[in-house]
Amino acid sequence: MGKRTIVAMPGDGIGKVVLDETIRVLDAAGFEAEFVNGDIGWEFWCNEGNPLPERTINLLKEHKIGLFGAITSKPKDAAFEELKPELKEKGLVYASPIVGLRQHFGLDICLRPCRTYKGNPLNFIRRGIGDTIEEPEVDVAIFRQNTEGLYGGVEWSDPPQQVYDALMTHPKFAKNFGHHPKNEISVSTRIFTKKHTERILRAAFEHANKYGYKSVTLCEKPNVIRETSGMMYKMAQQIQKADYPHIELWNTNIDAQMMWLTKNPENYGVIVAGNMFGDIVSDGFAGLIGGLGFACSAQINPDTGIGVFEPTHGSAPKYADYPVSIVNPIAMVESACMMLDFIDENDLASKIRKAVADVVAEGKVRTYDMMKMSGRPDVVEKGAASTKQMADAIIAKL
Ligand code: NAI
Ligand code: MG
Repeated sequence: MGKRTIVAMPGDGIGKVVLDETIRVLDAAGFEAEFVNGDIGWEFWCNEGNPLPERTINLLKEHKIGLFGAITSKPKDAAFEELKPELKEKGLVYASPIVGLRQHFGLDICLRPCRTYKGNPLNFIRRGIGDTIEEPEVDVAIFRQNTEGLYGGVEWSDPPQQVYDALMTHPKFAKNFGHHPKNEISVSTRIFTKKHTERILRAAFEHANKYGYKSVTLCEKPNVIRETSGMMYKMAQQIQKADYPHIELWNTNIDAQMMWLTKNPENYGVIVAGNMFGDIVSDGFAGLIGGLGFACSAQINPDTGIGVFEPTHGSAPKYADYPVSIVNPIAMVESACMMLDFIDENDLASKIRKAVADVVAEGKVRTYDMMKMSGRPDVVEKGAASTKQMADAIIAKL
């Protein structure tokens, strides 16, 4: 196959470091690709008034596959303060470039796998019967609807009169909220469409089918959020019955799921949820397998073949200026493996995953998080591996 072009979007802070180190790992594994730089993040907001410049969108449109580090986001007012003075008059409003990417390219399928690495000192352990200690092996794949729901951005404070009037036609709004002044009301909507609900459900079932998971768990709250969660549950039942009768459909409420998480995480296979609950449940499971240093993700649009692969952690600005970078690159490396799977370079992906697993199992090279240190600049002197040393160790195993 010819050389691929990958759009490398480092973003801000530690995003830059983990992406650089990951590209070294990909090179060492023999992945033949050209990496072109895609501008994204805070710097471009401050200097150009747009954290997701058009040229980056065009690069992704052309090459389809993006590796993304992390960005810094700040609240509206703080964002405005940091704009270049000559841009301040232009009425620009900061919007997250990741959400922008998801919405622009319809990256509605978000997959966040959480798998235990043997020998990871951060693995969750629990008390068994008597005085025994158990270390359950977690292997879940969380499918999160990525473009709708509570993160859809349809919201108001002091809603426009037509919106308010429409809300007043709902008896529960009139009864419970109608006596509050309009300008003291904020509304964030949770909109689900059949089309995108079906797409995320089918992606989840298809994944379970392909990789031999025995169950798909819908993690929502249909008993209370009857319209959106309720629709999703009904559709999940229909899809399961019609096309995946050999896979069990489980139904958990997000709150109960967070409680059960530590009790029997090994029982779950594929989990599927809307945007917000998918975000919550994936962070919960990530905590069982080592946290932010290990949590990877893919955001894809199966129709166009466009995919952006990124760790779930942010830019960790505190750590960005350390003379030697100390953060764990594994989450980014794992995200790159998801990219390789997506473009059918499965052998390369397995090879890199095995190298990571070997490094973790051996236990000689561990970043500060794996040593349960607090992330100070001197952790490397105290025996923790730097970001680069961890990447070197992975490369050595390749
Ligand atoms: P964060 O994920 O950047 O960092 C939180 C803490 O997690 C860090 O202080 C560090 O202790 C630990 N951590 C993160 N990545 C790690 C790694 N690879 N290895 C070891 N430890 C790691 O979240 P925070 O501090 O809430 O947000 C910082 C900035 O990042 C904010 O501006 C936020 O908006 C943005 N953010 C961006 C995301 C993205 O680009 N996808 C996601 C989350 C936050
Ligand atoms: Mg999150």
